[in-house]
Amino acid sequence: MNCIIKKNLLSEGKTKKIYRTSNPSEVLIHYKDTITAFDGLKNEFIQDKGILNNEISTLIFELINSYGIKTHFIRKINNREQLCQKVNIIPLEFVVRNIVSGSMSKRLNVQEGIRLSNPIFEIFYKNDKLKDPLINDHHAVFLKIISHEELNFIYLIISDINNLLKKYFLSKNIFLVDFKVEFGKNCDNDILLSDEITPDTCRFWDKKTMKKLDKDSFRIGLKKEKDTVKEKVFDIYMEILKRLNIR
Ligand code: TMP
Ligand code: ASP
Repeated sequence: MNCIIKKNLLSEGKTKKIYRTSNPSEVLIHYKDTITAFDGLKNEFIQDKGILNNEISTLIFELINSYGIKTHFIRKINNREQLCQKVNIIPLEFVVRNIVSGSMSKRLNVQEGIRLSNPIFEIFYKNDKLKDPLINDHHAVFLKIISHEELNFIYLIISDINNLLKKYFLSKNIFLVDFKVEFGKNCDNDILLSDEITPDTCRFWDKKTMKKLDKDSFRIGLKKEKDTVKEKVFDIYMEILKRLNIR
């Protein structure tokens, strides 16, 4: 295995830092201990949350890679860092919904918990100033973010990822309610699944109790006592990791 030399910081987001490496086509992604909600309006520190998310995302990306779906993920380097292909992120968030929840429930005034006979795909334009609006394919193509062909290619991939992950999480007694993924282009212009897949970016409900096992525990719990909420969120992320580790 080649020795990886960590170089300067390339970018920093709300929950991750990206560092250059000695290989220009690879980066190190470092998971921080922060948790945010409502476009960063609520921002808290949860000790070692980054370690849990690094491990959870590693397990999920390893699974997706093993099915031949192309991702940026190369390997986990240490408890906080992963080696990944360097990509230019396409500024779109792709949301896949299997059960009605979150913004879809509010926007359309439909009851949370309704199971969708066909998954619903949504795209959100990653633009802080505009507060990441929901857009459609035609808007994305008009904005020259992506082509119709590339969108159709991504829809096929997210459908495969959804089928794979739905089954995988069900085997852990978890309903995959919805999730958000991002894609990027590497130096060869290949479209790769990128970013992370963690309880920050998915909704997981316990199959028996329907308890929320994801970042909603933070979003919803914000009105309660801060330290109690942080402990609960940590325990929930740990519970997800434990279930993923049971074979
Ligand atoms: P939503 O119901 O709030 O639109 O969220 C849909 C899914 O996308 C949910 O699993 C959480 C995830 N998500 C993110 O990963 N980042 C975000 O900024 C938002 C708003 C949602
Ligand atoms: N990811 C967004 C934030 O950090 C919104 C959310 O997940 O609720 O603020």
